[in-house]
Amino acid sequence: MTSSVPFDGISMGCDYNPEQWPPSVWREDVTLMREAGVGFVTLGVFSWALLQPEPDRYDFGWFDEVLELLHEGGIAVDMATATAAPPPWLTTAHPEMLPVDAEGRTLWPGSRQSWCPSSPVFREHAVALVEQMARRYGSHPAVRLWHVSNELGCHIGKCWCDVSAAAFRRWLANRYGSIDVLNDAWGTAFWSQHYRSFEEVLPPRITPAVPNPTHELDFARFSSDELLDYYRVERDVLRRLSPDVPVTTNLMVSSHQSEQDYFSWAPELDLIAQDHYLDARLPHPHAEQSFTDDLTRGVAGGGSWLLMESATSAVNWQPFNVAKRPGELLLDSLRHVARGADGIGFFQWRASRAGGEKFHSALVPHAGRDSERFREVVGLGEALRRIGEVAGSPVEADVALLFDWNSWWACDLSSHPSAELRYVDAVHRWHRAVTELGVTADVVHPESDLSRYRLVIVPTLYLSSDATAASLDAYVRGGGQLLVTYFSGIVDESDHIRLGGYPGAFRELLGVRAEEFAPLLPGTTVTLDDGSTADRWTEVLTAPDAEVVARYTDGPLPGTPALTRRAVGDGVAWYLATRLDDAATAALADRLTRDAGVTRLAGAEPGVELVRRGRYLFVLNRGHEPVKVPAHGYDLLTGVNVEGTVDVQAGGAAVVREEGS
Ligand code: GLA
Repeated sequence: MTSSVPFDGISMGCDYNPEQWPPSVWREDVTLMREAGVGFVTLGVFSWALLQPEPDRYDFGWFDEVLELLHEGGIAVDMATATAAPPPWLTTAHPEMLPVDAEGRTLWPGSRQSWCPSSPVFREHAVALVEQMARRYGSHPAVRLWHVSNELGCHIGKCWCDVSAAAFRRWLANRYGSIDVLNDAWGTAFWSQHYRSFEEVLPPRITPAVPNPTHELDFARFSSDELLDYYRVERDVLRRLSPDVPVTTNLMVSSHQSEQDYFSWAPELDLIAQDHYLDARLPHPHAEQSFTDDLTRGVAGGGSWLLMESATSAVNWQPFNVAKRPGELLLDSLRHVARGADGIGFFQWRASRAGGEKFHSALVPHAGRDSERFREVVGLGEALRRIGEVAGSPVEADVALLFDWNSWWACDLSSHPSAELRYVDAVHRWHRAVTELGVTADVVHPESDLSRYRLVIVPTLYLSSDATAASLDAYVRGGGQLLVTYFSGIVDESDHIRLGGYPGAFRELLGVRAEEFAPLLPGTTVTLDDGSTADRWTEVLTAPDAEVVARYTDGPLPGTPALTRRAVGDGVAWYLATRLDDAATAALADRLTRDAGVTRLAGAEPGVELVRRGRYLFVLNRGHEPVKVPAHGYDLLTGVNVEGTVDVQAGGAAVVREEGS
């Protein structure tokens, strides 16, 4: 990652799909984009079939016209390579490039993204198109960014076809060197799974009983690497033919898309770009957004990133597509900016008349320009223009929350002690608890440098490396405050249990030892002797070398330690062996952040989010009451001086350039 967001200030942008509209609409589009303050558009994502209508014929004329109109209108372009959805002539000629699921079913054309990431024939045709795009548009002054494919892994994060199987075997041979090493790593002595050669290995297709978990885990790793490899193939063409334009792709750092290890992708991208949609199926959709934004910033190494796509209102793909209420569009967009986004993009410019996404919101709704939604979009464009000076300012955080895709994949595999234990649930819970205290957390890889953080939280890091254990040990000895929660440090990178007692990797550092897990049945709770309530998980825990802070008073293990604390070197290591409810999680977060001397922004509470980006204080009030928050300076949104407190109405926001900072 080398580039900052290549658009001016905090730019507003959108996907633009002009092929869905007659040319007469294109001119009106550019006029309306200017009215709304659109600074960039993503062009060409799904244009392949019309850019290359036949195998040996390209038709760029209409696309040139659109590009010139945008350029004349002063709108910058994030140019897609147009390879996301192959045209029917290609899938008809080469059905062997279609993806196959774990049950052996082909995913047929008729939708989008029907291609196998390992398919050589798909790659060959995609590269030919990318070369055309790069030669034709690679030095056009409007083109500021290249956008490889689209949401790589969306719909087809894994493919189980025979071509993928061969690629998987090559990946395994490269990882393990010999089949004996693989047998050892996969524990194939179990259930007669011993392999004689790599040729006998298949992708983990459906099986009669529980599949080998390390096989599944390695297939997840391979699938992430294989898509990244595909990204590299396109990127290398772009770098060769259009060396001055940065290259990225839109990531999906969300709670439902766990198939790519974006920490390993980041070094290959010139800029981190992310798509995010609020998900009404989650218990705390806005908290999930904040978490995702902090994780995206972690993927970006702490720097700025680009929100490539989001929704002005409802999406079309949830069972109940909740529309944004007045003011929510601004608030949700500012939340992204507060947490490091230096540009706010949307899907899409004009709501489609036809196709599978015709009920997805857009900047211009079906109702047209004369609509509240478009007026809100214009207002958002103006607000982002006012806060443009924020771009590039670093988000300030002195808490780190450790996160790992490998651990997520491994933790959520089947045949574990509790089907209700879910990795992101644990991570979200702790992120939300600190956020509600006015604390900003960086969400970072477990092997990151932790030395600058006052508090490190490690929720349910089931799979942990020796390096992570050593790093946490050094962090605490050096004066850090650490919280590790249940079902952490259980296995190594091969998903083998760390023997001798749980939580294996962190047992010594924490001074505790669990001999057995005692998960709780759904709907049951336990009480701790400090009055806390918890559910889902308990452990037969002893604390040979730690102070017991709280014990269970009921449930399967009355009198057993639930929360422990150990002073180590200059620091302190806490262990929490159960899932506290929201109030108790908040109380423990309060104690830990106070003990650690973590910066807390005064005025934060559930529904009122405060974040500091450099000299700018963001106040986001999602609550139903006005709030007063201490601040001195100038509110960029209202243009009003702030002397002592800033008043923020219910559903409103302030972005204060603070004095003297
Ligand atoms: C993603 C995709 C878009 C569109 C939207 C719908 O952002 O990139 O093409 O499908 O989702 O929410």
